[in-house]
Amino acid sequence: MCGIVGYVGSRSALDLLVPGLERLEYRGYDSAGVALAEPEGIRIVRKAGRIADLERVLQGEPMPAATVGMGHTRWATHGAPTTSNAHPHRDCTGRVAVVHNGIIENWAELKAELVGNGHVFASDTDTEVVAHLVEELADLPLEEAVRQVMRRAEGALALVVIRADEPDVVVGARRGSPLVVGLGEGENFLASDIPAFLAYTRRMAVLEDDRVVRLDADTATITDLDGNPVAVQERHVEWDLEAAEKGGYPTFMLKEIYEQPQAIADTLRGRFDQAGRVRLRELELSDDVLRAVDKVFVVACGTSYHAAMMAKYAIERWTRLPTEIDIASEFRYRDPVLDDRTLVIGISQSGETADTLAAIRYAKAQGSVVVGVSNVVDSSLAREADAVLYTRAGPEIGVAATKTFTTQLVALQLFGLHLARARGSLDDGAIELLTSGIRALPDQVRRVLELDGEIAEMASRWAGTRDFFFLGRSGDFPVAMEGALKLKEIAYVRAEGYPAGEMKHGPIALIEPGVVVVGVATDSHVRQKTFANMEEMRARGGEIFMVVEEGDEAARKVADHAIAVPAAPDLVCTVTAVVPLQLLAYHIATERGFDVDKPRNLAKTVTVE
Ligand code: F6R
Repeated sequence: MCGIVGYVGSRSALDLLVPGLERLEYRGYDSAGVALAEPEGIRIVRKAGRIADLERVLQGEPMPAATVGMGHTRWATHGAPTTSNAHPHRDCTGRVAVVHNGIIENWAELKAELVGNGHVFASDTDTEVVAHLVEELADLPLEEAVRQVMRRAEGALALVVIRADEPDVVVGARRGSPLVVGLGEGENFLASDIPAFLAYTRRMAVLEDDRVVRLDADTATITDLDGNPVAVQERHVEWDLEAAEKGGYPTFMLKEIYEQPQAIADTLRGRFDQAGRVRLRELELSDDVLRAVDKVFVVACGTSYHAAMMAKYAIERWTRLPTEIDIASEFRYRDPVLDDRTLVIGISQSGETADTLAAIRYAKAQGSVVVGVSNVVDSSLAREADAVLYTRAGPEIGVAATKTFTTQLVALQLFGLHLARARGSLDDGAIELLTSGIRALPDQVRRVLELDGEIAEMASRWAGTRDFFFLGRSGDFPVAMEGALKLKEIAYVRAEGYPAGEMKHGPIALIEPGVVVVGVATDSHVRQKTFANMEEMRARGGEIFMVVEEGDEAARKVADHAIAVPAAPDLVCTVTAVVPLQLLAYHIATERGFDVDKPRNLAKTVTVE
């Protein structure tokens, strides 16, 4: 996720671009930059860090009074968050500039071809290929050049391009990543999101996938990739600025829950080969290294630890490697037995959690191979690990982890399959089944989100309930743990996550009328056993709510209430199963009147022990 903005009109572009970027800073804040178009050339100013850092640089620079330009605030997905990787990127001549939000999957092939043609690259980004491709098409109108680039580039692209030869024009294009057009009087805008231009116009149009828009001060023309005109569907924005920043959602947390289909699609993007097999080229760990491993440890804190729990089941089942998991604050002081054949996976969305960093440092000191799973490019975890897998969820503003959790699950499932392929531990049929299950997840999560109304009704029923248990077995156990944690942290309700089969060894004494027991039963290995455990809870007066798979009629018999998620292979289903529990916690917390984005006593990133 990044924020992009473009302007063409009669006012000073810079004076509109910088406030526009500030409104989009929630989309990323690794670096920022602007480009201004003039017939003599394009002036670009960029800076690693937040928009305030860019503003400080701009104050010290004489800037042209251009009326056409664009800006970018970056959430790095490709290349470290440095100034040289900051957008806008330019071509070899300095007469073309590009900003981009998304991931170009075939950038390596395109770059190799362009380097072969003599182009010189100045960054590690995938985006820069677009500038050089447009440079190659200098004879064509910019709009047509962008159409041709869109036909060649694979993956997700929201682009804004300017060229000094057409200094009164801004061209945008979209596939997969959002781009909206703001329609003003004698001026027009392009942006990733409405808040960037809402102060200037309420007239807008959403650019659909595989469309190119050409803006000058007075007109906005949209075409498909063959150049056929497409009608501009104008809309009027009713939201105020604050609502617009949250995309019309009342809170960032709800917005982030709803972003999960897109976030998961981004996590999957470019991580399969032509034959559809998982290929994590960015890991830079040879198959020989992966084959030499004889033991795995997964370490993390909080929600990331619940992802680690799922990873244990996946790695053990799919690779037959013994896998231990640890809460990072325990791992670092318990003197675990590690050596150079141990693979240690550290999971941290922020990549800055002190305990997780200490754990992976310990592992490195023992000579173990360390893989980091992080949402933040170039975080401390990413830099210190031997290899890193990014989750690409985009920035998460709500303190409670939601989209970063589901994308961790997906990234770890991809890693499990990568490891299984390298070690030859799963047959092709099993790999294919799991892979197609994982690839179906964005759509499946979209379908689960349609159940929100039903879940909100249950939440209002339980808004005053004081005691919850969340139970599951096998892959459903981490989901139950995560459901309980969400409820604790945002609704301030006592909620215990427990292995369903362990209840009879003590905690069942707490079950009585008035206690709500949430059961998760999607893992086919153990589903029937979980049902039996839930019967035991019901017999003691617990009110039973179950998350099950569609078509599972047996569940309805033990449950007072059930939510059915689309069927998926075991463990893959954790991703869909957790979404109703995120929504349940969300609605209970809001019914109780709490600020879910900033729960009490919590910090988004815990950099102390
Ligand atoms: C819960 C939550 C925390 C974090 C934990 C680890 O919603 O957000 O439990 O999961 O503090 O944070 P990271 O993943 O940044 O290491």
